[in-house]
Formats: sequence, C-alpha cells, structure tokens
Amino acid sequence: MTHLDTIIQGDCVDVLATLPERSVDLIFADPPYNLQLRGDLWRPNMTKVDAVDDHWDQFSDFESYDRFTEAWLKGCRRVLKDTGTVWVIGSYHNIFRVGKLLMDLGYWILNDVIWLKTNPMPNFRGVRFTNAHETLIWAKKSASQAKYTFNHRVTKNLNDELQMRSDWLIPLCTGDERIRVDGQKAHTTQKPEALLYRVIASSSSPGDVVLDPFFGTGTTGAVAKKLHRHWIGIEKDPAYIKVARERIAAIHPVPMSDEVFPTPAVSKEPRIPFGALLEQGLLQPGDRLLSPRREFSAIVTADGRLRANGREGSIHSLGAQLNDLPSCNGWTYWHFHDSNGVFQPLDHLRQRVRAKLRQTCPEQTASPPARMARKRAHVSSPELPLLDPPTTPPGT
Ligand SMILES: C[S@@+](CC[C@H](N)C(=O)[O-])C[C@H]1O[C@@H](n2cnc3c(N)ncnc32)[C@H](O)[C@@H]1O
Repeated sequence: MTHLDTIIQGDCVDVLATLPERSVDLIFADPPYNLQLRGDLWRPNMTKVDAVDDHWDQFSDFESYDRFTEAWLKGCRRVLKDTGTVWVIGSYHNIFRVGKLLMDLGYWILNDVIWLKTNPMPNFRGVRFTNAHETLIWAKKSASQAKYTFNHRVTKNLNDELQMRSDWLIPLCTGDERIRVDGQKAHTTQKPEALLYRVIASSSSPGDVVLDPFFGTGTTGAVAKKLHRHWIGIEKDPAYIKVARERIAAIHPVPMSDEVFPTPAVSKEPRIPFGALLEQGLLQPGDRLLSPRREFSAIVTADGRLRANGREGSIHSLGAQLNDLPSCNGWTYWHFHDSNGVFQPLDHLRQRVRAKLRQTCPEQTASPPARMARKRAHVSSPELPLLDPPTTPPGT
C-alpha cells in the first residue's frame, strides 16, 4: 500500500474512500465527542478550564453528528480486512450513539473497556459526579467473522500473569508526555501512549497495518512505530499534522528481533495435571508437601488437591492463598523429600511424568511447529453461536 507510515491530510470520510478495500488490520478511532459545551468553564480560583471547545468538535445537532459517524464507520468497515477489528473511544456524550451505529452497520462488539482515569478533572461546580472514565468499544466486522487477532498471552504477560480485565486504570496524558507548542497544549485531547500500547499490543501483530482516522497528535502512530506495526494517520488540521510528524520522526524503535518482540510462546511441553502424579504413584494420598522455607506443610488429598492451615485448593491456589498473593506457581513452590532425602520442587516429579510420556507417546510430545505458534495469536471462533452468551451476567 502506498500510504504506509504517513499522515494523509483531509476529511477522513473522503480519504477512507480512496484507500484500498480490506487493506487494514486494526483501526483505532478517537472521533469528535460532540461535547456541546455552552459558555466557558471556570475553576473556583477563577482560572479558565482548558476545555474541548475546538471547531472540530462542533456539530449543529445530533442528526448531523450521527450522519458523520455513520459515514466514517462505513468507510472504516470497507478498508478493514476480514480478520480486522476496530476500537472506538468516546465519552458519555457520544459513545452510546457510536455503539448503536456500529451495531446497525453490522459490526459485532467484542468488549467495551472502561479507561478509568487516575487523575480526572473534578466537577468544579459540584453538580454531578466527577467524570472519571471514557469507554472504548472493541468490535469485529461482523458476527460471523471467524478470525481476529487477540494476543491473550501478551495481555497476560503485561498484567503480571493475570487475565487482563476490561477496566484499565491509566493516568491522563500529562507531564513530559503532553506535547506543548509555545507553552500551550498542542491538542486538547492527546491520549496517553499507555492506552494505545494496550490496544495495539493486544489486537495486532508486528508488521500489521494500524489506521487512525482522527490522528490528532499521532499517538497511535507513535506507539505503532515503537511496536513495529505500520500505521496510517488521517487528520484534517495541518497544525496537528506538523506536531504528529515531528513526534513520530523522533521515535527510533529498537530493531525488530525475536528477542525483544517474541512470537507469543506456546508451551512446547505437554501439560501435566497434578493429579497425574497421584495416578502414576509418584505421590500417595496423605503425603506431605512443604513450602520452600518449610513454614507450610500441606497434605495431598485423594482427589488431587492440597490442604493446609484449614484451607484447601489446587497446588497453585493454595500456595497463593497461604502467601496472600494473586497467583503462585505450585510446581516450583511445593517441595518434597525424594528417596535420597533430597529436598526437591514438585516440578521434579512433573519432569519424570513428561519423560515417561516422551518414551511411550512421542507424537503427543513433539513441539508444535512455529507456524502453529503464530496461528495461536489468532482467535478462531467459527463454532460460536450468532448470539454470544454474555460471559458475566449484567449487574454482577
Ligand atoms: C479527539 S481528537 C484525536 C486525538 C488523538 N487521539 C491524539 O492522541 O492526539 C480528534 C481529531 O480528529 C480530527 N478530526 C475531526 N474531524 C475530522 C475529520 N472529519 N477528518 C479528519 N480528522 C478529523 C481533529 O482535528 C482532531 O485532531
């Protein structure tokens, strides 16, 4: 594609129509909010609030905002590959209208993510709750779209081994990250790079094309470049384009390598459940396992769990409970004395089960080819019913 890694000046509806069909892997859109601010906003100390009163955020009425939203969402759907997804961020002023139009156009919502701001602007007049979040909608092109990229492993790695939730606690863009021109903010709504890092790292792969139709200061391009994705920006204001160009030109990402940008790893080892140690006679019900410093002693139950100090759980969850931790690797935490009296981690027994498996069933233990590992980065859901059942009942 000719426009890779460039900013195209113009109205995004017109520009999107000129881009090749099905050519983009991921879209991040931060459209006008249609805030409809009436009059200036003042702090109690009589300083004026730097509000979003820009000309690009003005629409005569909801109808014209909806017409515009429908037009750019249609344009985005045309340029998205059939494996692509779109993220749209907005506030209560616009996100519900955007969500309805997305659904009407055939997109299928995968998640709505709450960006919870650690440092929101207070409600100065004290007449409402502090508005402390924005909403991101993540959607695929259609309900029947079988494949899209979700790097589950990457999101877990970024979140200390815990599955990443749909509420993201991230500060507003302030300090050195906030671009200033002649001492003034270059843009009223520059988004934090941390937000884009999660979006791009979770739902695209190195080499993919990431498009942002409302480029502003180019936050999407800056993070995409750092993460070795191609990017395309569309922006109508030349002043913002200048800021974005300079910002992105100053980024020199480390060279692409497997060491720094690893393919999400698929364990090459066959999975061994703890119960297999009991079934194969390597442990007996009633045996005792010890913590590394021997302060906890757990008894092995006949159904493959552990009990200690009045608590019960898997080797992992009991280790976590006893140490007040969110997670624990039970294979390296729990220890036993082997037949020579040597204090060994439980993993030692797991390796014996694996070695036996290798001898008796080599095809089960062959490491999956790299092609498979790459494929795992894609979620495939052809068997999903048209109406995905909600994963969590609303209101819980
Ligand atoms: C909410 S801001 C995006 C800020 C950006 N995410 C950042 O981090 O700097 C929306 C941007 O879209 C631009 N814009 C508004 N309407 C547009 C249109 N029809 N076509 C292209 N750009 C537009 C505005 O000039 C503004 O810079």
